[in-house]
Amino acid sequence: MAKQEDDFKKVISHAKEYGYVTQSSEIYDGLSAVYDYTQNGAELKKNIKEYWWQAMVQLNENIVGIDAAIFMHPTTWKASGHIDAFNDPLIDNKDSKKRYRADVLIEDYVGKIEKKIEKEVEKAAKRFGEAFDKGQFLSTNPRVVKYQEQAREILKRMGRSLEAEDLADVKALIEELEITCPVSGSRNWTDVKQFNLMFGTRLGATAESSMELFLRPETAQGIFVNFSNVQKSGRMKIPFGIAQVGKAFRNEIVARQFIFRMREFEQMEMQFFIRPGEQKKWYEHWKEARMKWHLSLGMGEELYRFHDHEKLAHYADAASDIEFRFPFGFKELEGIHSRTDFDLSSHEKFSGKKLQYFDPELGTHYVPYVIETSIGLDRMFLAVFSNALRDEELEDGSSRTVLKLPAVLAPIKAAVLPLVKKDGLPELAHDIVADLKWDFMVQYDEKDAIGRRYRRQDAAGTPFCITVDHQSLEDRTVTLRSRDSMEQKRVPVAELKEVIQQAVSYRHWLQKSGL
Ligand code: GAP
Repeated sequence: MAKQEDDFKKVISHAKEYGYVTQSSEIYDGLSAVYDYTQNGAELKKNIKEYWWQAMVQLNENIVGIDAAIFMHPTTWKASGHIDAFNDPLIDNKDSKKRYRADVLIEDYVGKIEKKIEKEVEKAAKRFGEAFDKGQFLSTNPRVVKYQEQAREILKRMGRSLEAEDLADVKALIEELEITCPVSGSRNWTDVKQFNLMFGTRLGATAESSMELFLRPETAQGIFVNFSNVQKSGRMKIPFGIAQVGKAFRNEIVARQFIFRMREFEQMEMQFFIRPGEQKKWYEHWKEARMKWHLSLGMGEELYRFHDHEKLAHYADAASDIEFRFPFGFKELEGIHSRTDFDLSSHEKFSGKKLQYFDPELGTHYVPYVIETSIGLDRMFLAVFSNALRDEELEDGSSRTVLKLPAVLAPIKAAVLPLVKKDGLPELAHDIVADLKWDFMVQYDEKDAIGRRYRRQDAAGTPFCITVDHQSLEDRTVTLRSRDSMEQKRVPVAELKEVIQQAVSYRHWLQKSGL
């Protein structure tokens, strides 16, 4: 646990030191759960967005992208169910005066049981060596089976109680499990209460004439209210999708773990409109497609798993999370939801406008069903960034800190480094920058010895260093050093663009995924 915390602290301080993420308004001591992306962070975020947009919009002829406003008519949130049901169940500890999400306390308890299972698996894997069959062990080892049942039962009961709004039973479960406050260590809990997560504001100049508005808690509703506009103007035929990237706001109570849970964040969402009755097929399709997208980044299959929901949101008939192994354990990264016709039907009812589709093949009108894929951009950033950060021991006994970001997402693709600051080397290096900058984000760096510059670029996540030396003046070749392998090879200046392009192009990475 202490190691996990240390690793996570390193991630946070590295993000600040290398120009990725800082607390918002830091000079005023910051604002809780609100963060700013600085120069490298802004680039990494932009590249993740582009990687998603290309896979979702550019590569799918039947998906288009929109950019809807953050402010929406307040009735939107009545129709979507957010005014009545977008609540977190909260519980306070009377001794520490700290407030918690009741479901998170219970999930953390289950997380501890899962840790025990992982430990048992590790022990058994060591004991049995090559002959170890994880699947068989999980289904036959009595202790592990008991842990699994226990975890399942707890989650099932919590799901049932939350669904039925039986908050007294949620409290009873916390008491039965003897969950203590992480701060005071006591079990002196208040009752569980619901708390709405939407931020309110007002539109208009005077108190009497102004209208109460909400900052959108999800981007999805901007897509639903534009369903007919896009379908008609784009002559879209079902099945088709509408995608969007944008800010969302939630007054999170348990806002911790850096950019994992923020009060202002970005979502990349896609609503896929289908015929009623086809939801099972498309739900499976999008689960698979989204997992392929994640795997295309080459970070390792073992970092991902599906978690099918027991407790469904008010709009869903099936839901699954893609969970990622963050430094603090497996947690939700993306949700795939089968939303039925809940949203469009409800907007029809509240707006009085028809939100239907005439299906020429069936010769009938219907309200389409929807499969949604919804991923947090900031959460994706954290997944990529935290997994990339490594301390490596090198063959010569030294060590280095390296940020092994997938090259396609790296903020700066190459640093151009003159070996010395004289003899015409800076001039040639500047010429190379002047040419490459038309295609990539590149950086010129002449300060410090070359070894230190390499280390600095490794830690910043730059996949290539291009070193200009005296030979370069004679034969127009440079040394190209790879961040990950640290291999160096001589490359003609004229070929740099093609070599870098091959390593960082969206096409190259996305094609691998078979999307
Ligand atoms: N439209 C469906 C929807 O909003 P959600 O599960 O509440 O579903 C989708 O959110 C994704 O948005 C999550 O999987 C997560 O990646 C991201 N997300 C949600 N709340 C967040 C927060 N407070 N901070 C950062 N990301 C968040």
